Amino acid sequence: METNVLTRKHDETRQAASDSRKFYIESYGCAMNFADSEVVASILQGAGFTGTRDFREADLVLVNTCSIREKAEQTIRSRLHIFRQAKRSHPSMLIAVLGCMAERLKSKFLEEEKLVDLVVGPDAYRTLPLLIEEADGGQKSVNVLLSRDETYADIAPVRLNSNGVNAFVSIMRGCNNMCSFCVVPLTRGRERSRNPGSILAECRDLFENGFREVTLLGQNVDSYHWHSGVEGEPAVSFAELLENVAGISPLLRVRFSTSHPKDITDEVLHTIARYENICNYIHLPVQSGSTRVLQRMNRTYTREWYLARVRRIRELIPDCGITSDMIAGFCSETEEDHQETLSLIRECRFDMSYMYFYSERPGTLAARRYPDDIPEVEKKRRLDEIVKLQNQISQESNRNDLGTISKVLIEGDSKKSATAWMGRNSQNKVVVFPKTGQGFKKGDYALVKIEQCTGATLIGQSL
Ligand code: SAM
Ligand code: SF4
Ligand code: F3S
Repeated sequence: METNVLTRKHDETRQAASDSRKFYIESYGCAMNFADSEVVASILQGAGFTGTRDFREADLVLVNTCSIREKAEQTIRSRLHIFRQAKRSHPSMLIAVLGCMAERLKSKFLEEEKLVDLVVGPDAYRTLPLLIEEADGGQKSVNVLLSRDETYADIAPVRLNSNGVNAFVSIMRGCNNMCSFCVVPLTRGRERSRNPGSILAECRDLFENGFREVTLLGQNVDSYHWHSGVEGEPAVSFAELLENVAGISPLLRVRFSTSHPKDITDEVLHTIARYENICNYIHLPVQSGSTRVLQRMNRTYTREWYLARVRRIRELIPDCGITSDMIAGFCSETEEDHQETLSLIRECRFDMSYMYFYSERPGTLAARRYPDDIPEVEKKRRLDEIVKLQNQISQESNRNDLGTISKVLIEGDSKKSATAWMGRNSQNKVVVFPKTGQGFKKGDYALVKIEQCTGATLIGQSL
């Protein structure tokens, strides 16, 4: 479970803190949801609220939810029960459900979860102040309208739980792909790109405020496409946007997520190779190693296509970190299909992967068309094999780094000890090294010689 709380208060809100109403926000799911919570915090501050880290003292509790797997929804439901208990001793408290579960369940939420007061979908956050007013008057408020053009481009996010070094920047919303297993197109609506001028302004502002890494976010960043609508003006592609952000300063690292194997272009790969500050790291979810299963998933590429993209990445960016997502036990997956996923993992040698077993989501193409016919024990056995193999390859990948020198952006103290720094290298691997008097601080770059490793961390000494 991941929790996001407001940590940075602006002067004007601090001044008003004693008499203003307090909000508490908790976020689940993908980075886009966490970025959305920062937009929500900004809208609420504009409406006179201040943030709190303690939900018991909040007048407004917001839960930004995720529907991607059934398990995610269960976790959120049990959290809602805890907030409902807090509301019993604080009856004026409002509870708001935001995000993908709000969009999926709509007003059903109000019937199912009796003490929820507001249900607000991902494209309706601007209406929050109005909805809160309605809810204050005792009305249950719902706005789950999806939009074709909302990108919140003009709203300056309030950075939540920030280390002051890394920040997420949304560059687009929604998704036009129809992967048959996936609920996102239903909860987030049609794809739309954000004005590049506002993206660059946000990144510049972050840099000027000491941030040293931005991650550009979209469900499928390669299909970023902006046109002003003015005849004669050129369109802006993802590669061009990436290049413009990288041009802000060589000291600002740029990452992005997520790339789709069918859309990632050579132009993007050349751009990464050209700029030292665009990280050599690509998250390229494959989902399955079997062409037959990929077709059923409606991923629109084959195993061979995926392998060819990985070869191209390695050719153009030889030291690129590549990570992936995998789903075990999708509808009709045979043992042979599963073995193909394992062999693809061996061939690609991903540095790391997010691995799941298939969870049927109501309303998706797969739920409507294909029986969820792999028993749960079998899904879990296959997932287990995938995880074991990936862990072994991750270990080997880290061992291959022993003796090399990594340029590390320092993010803060290591989790285990305040006498060591923690940061990440270009390939997105976590690097820990002792603080040895070179006068480094958060946000600095350090050259670190890698001397030891675990499955998830590189350990070294700064030069
Ligand atoms: N847009 C990205 C993409 O296309 O890869 C990521 C989408 S989703 C937020 C993140 C991951 O969740 C997916 O890549 C997939 O592996 C997993 N996922 C999505 N739907 C799922 C489902 N019904 N059951 C299990 N895993 C799922
Ligand atoms: Fe879901 Fe596919 Fe869109 Fe990713 S690309 S969000 S998996 S529909
Ligand atoms: Fe979850 Fe919605 Fe993201 S379903 S993964 S929060 S887009």
